[in-house]
Amino acid sequence: MSIQPEPKVLFGCKEIETAVSRLAAEIRGDYHDKHPVLIGVLKGAFVFLADLVRLLDFPLEVEFIMLASYGKGQASSGNVKVIQELGSNILGRHVLIIEDIVDSGLTTTFLLDYLWKKKPTSLKLCAMLDKPSRRRTPVNIDYLGFTISDKFIVGYGIDWGEKFRNLPNICFVEAED
Ligand code: IMP
Ligand code: MG
Repeated sequence: MSIQPEPKVLFGCKEIETAVSRLAAEIRGDYHDKHPVLIGVLKGAFVFLADLVRLLDFPLEVEFIMLASYGKGQASSGNVKVIQELGSNILGRHVLIIEDIVDSGLTTTFLLDYLWKKKPTSLKLCAMLDKPSRRRTPVNIDYLGFTISDKFIVGYGIDWGEKFRNLPNICFVEAED
């Protein structure tokens, strides 16, 4: 039997807007003349990416990659796979990964390694949320929205068993592993 958890707000729309604006300003400063490729990691980053790109007023391209590391539970399997490939070549491009959450770090580490093999000129990471207490492998986050404690997040594109992606706020649920 599973109990439907009640999501509680961690960051509301105003706080999210402020964080995304700050990140957009940092990214604009570094990439305005670089024609970067932003790679959204599906599915969790789709809302964040949509908010972010609308604040970036310079030429850029958007690609997506879909990775699987989680089943319906709350812990990373550590076994990361590419479910959907990029739609274009990133050879010689400035690439910025857009992630929802860095948790154990296993997904991001896999992705950085996977994308470096495609020989981009540069490769950096932007994540909305960081849960450093759960890290199993070190990850350097170049652009970060919020550092959070060990909470299970839903909303703002992020799911729990495919539920709650549509909540506008960044919320957390108290559910079991
Ligand atoms: P990692 O491999 O453990 O760093 O996990 C990376 C991915 O797991 C994230 O990009 C999310 O898609 C998912 N994930 C990590 N923490 C949470 C959470 O609190 N809620 C929902 N998904 C999460
Ligand atoms: Mg993700």
